[in-house]
Amino acid sequence: MCGIIGYVGEKPAAPILIDSLKKLEYRGYDSAGICILNDSLKTYKTTGKIADLESILPEGIEGTIGIGHTRWATHGKPNTINSHPHLSGDVAVVHNGIIENYLRLKEKLIGDGYTFKSDTDTEVIAHLLHSHLYGGSDSQSKKCDLMTAVQKTLPSLEGSYAIAVLCGSEPGLMVVARKDSPLVIGIGNGEIFAASDVTAFLKHTKDVVFVDDNEVASIRGGSVEFFDADGNPVTKETTKIEWDIEAAEKAGYEHFMLKEIHEQASSVHDTFAGKISEMEGTIILDELNMSDEQIRHMTRIEIIACGTSWNAGLVGKYLFEQLAGIHTDVDTGSEFRYGYPVVCGEVLTIAITQSGETADTLAAVRGARSYGCQAIAITNVVGSTITREIDSVLYTRAGPEIGVAATKSFTTQLITLYLLALKFARIRGKISAEDSKNLLVALKKIPADIQKILNKKAVIQECARQFADAEDYFFIGRHLNYPIALEGALKLKEISYIHAEGYAAGELKHGPLALLTDKTPVVAIATKGHTYDKMLSNIKEVKARDAIVIAVANKDDTEIEKYVDVVLRIPETHDLLSPILSSVVLQLLAYYTALERGCSIDKPRNLAKSVTVE
Ligand code: M6R
Repeated sequence: MCGIIGYVGEKPAAPILIDSLKKLEYRGYDSAGICILNDSLKTYKTTGKIADLESILPEGIEGTIGIGHTRWATHGKPNTINSHPHLSGDVAVVHNGIIENYLRLKEKLIGDGYTFKSDTDTEVIAHLLHSHLYGGSDSQSKKCDLMTAVQKTLPSLEGSYAIAVLCGSEPGLMVVARKDSPLVIGIGNGEIFAASDVTAFLKHTKDVVFVDDNEVASIRGGSVEFFDADGNPVTKETTKIEWDIEAAEKAGYEHFMLKEIHEQASSVHDTFAGKISEMEGTIILDELNMSDEQIRHMTRIEIIACGTSWNAGLVGKYLFEQLAGIHTDVDTGSEFRYGYPVVCGEVLTIAITQSGETADTLAAVRGARSYGCQAIAITNVVGSTITREIDSVLYTRAGPEIGVAATKSFTTQLITLYLLALKFARIRGKISAEDSKNLLVALKKIPADIQKILNKKAVIQECARQFADAEDYFFIGRHLNYPIALEGALKLKEISYIHAEGYAAGELKHGPLALLTDKTPVVAIATKGHTYDKMLSNIKEVKARDAIVIAVANKDDTEIEKYVDVVLRIPETHDLLSPILSSVVLQLLAYYTALERGCSIDKPRNLAKSVTVE
């Protein structure tokens, strides 16, 4: 997730862009840059935060039109060269999104004589625009105007984008476009803004126009014109934003947690985008520094993580064992670091940490590496400590997570584990191309499935309201759903302060059944799969003790209704993928329960987002 801003007006653009970028910093903050169009393009970029960019700007930059970007690296390291704006001749572009076919486009452009300076996907957009404008890398004579060049470029881009473009030979003009990444226009008095969200310009204007997918806008002076994908003019409505700045940062949601739950449809998509070849049933993980030979000879996987990330690791265990046939252990960082691990053979350590800064996880991984283990990290934060101490880094593309309760970081960790397990399974010959393809087809549907759950969240809210006074809650599941039960309980307890426990459903009879009363809600994750019948038996055991059963079940499951009090539905999906959808349901259950109880949802008592102490 990155943030873009564009300004066309009468005031000096640089300070306005810097101020706007500070508002967008929550979307990413590993590097930043601006480009101002006066007589020519002047570009300033640096690694670090917006304050670092501000500190390198000369006094009194002239020019009243400019674009800016704050970056959260997806392709290429967070360094100055990879930071935006990207230039090709006198064309400058900032981009939020992911160009999935950039490698193919890059090869073609290199063949056409273009030289790439960065490792980013965005640079292909700059060169494509230039090639349409000038007909080639060496040419100086214009073949079309900037608007036409943008319209010719967009159809070749696969993936998502919100872009703002300037051209040195067309002063006063900015062109913007979007597909699957947010873009909003602010209409000021004699000035126009274009940004990833309204917070960027809210202090200048509350009149906005939301750009829709496949639309392009041309901004000049104090006016803006919109066009559809075929170049036909489009009339758009202006909306008055009623939010104050604080509400706007949460995109109008009451809490960051709810906003982040909603972002999962896109963060999950971003995490697998460009990494799967559905046709061949294969996974492309260029960041993985492991040869096929090493993957074939691996004897064991050791997953190290804490909290929610540890729960994701438990899902990983089932996946690596079931799909790839690799024995997998999962340890919490705090236990592993003081244990006596048996590290022999070809052991791969996988550290899972949203922040990349959790002290226990870091210490445990250092320990594992001291035994000579190959180690990879699954993390969300580019440049975090773990990324500097590890052989390979697989980034989740969740974007910054502000709420203490992990939500979108969890589901994107799960996606990364599915990709890794499938890759290992294919290389080790444990899954056929056909089965792999089927799984990938279902995986591509997951963002839409998540959206369906979000669209019906009122049912979950009503359930949360009904049982918000409970003193204890239990969560049960089997196999892949067991870690989801643990995660459901963790979410509920940390933000609603209700005592909640997660169990492997078969374990209830070994003790916890004694705690059940007719006031205890038991959430049973009973999605379709090979343990479904066993789950039904466990549900009957619970009902026989008069407890309340809330089932998480598949959309078409009519059987389950006979045995439970409430059913929360997930869309039909591949059995192996249902944990991702069930987690979204449980996040909403926890959120609405905490809301009903008036808790401090984004900052629960006694907790911190990143635990950097032992
Ligand atoms: O940044 P990490 O993933 O290493 O953090 C580990 C835990 O502190 C974290 O997952 C915690 O359990 C969640 N914030 C709970 O929602």
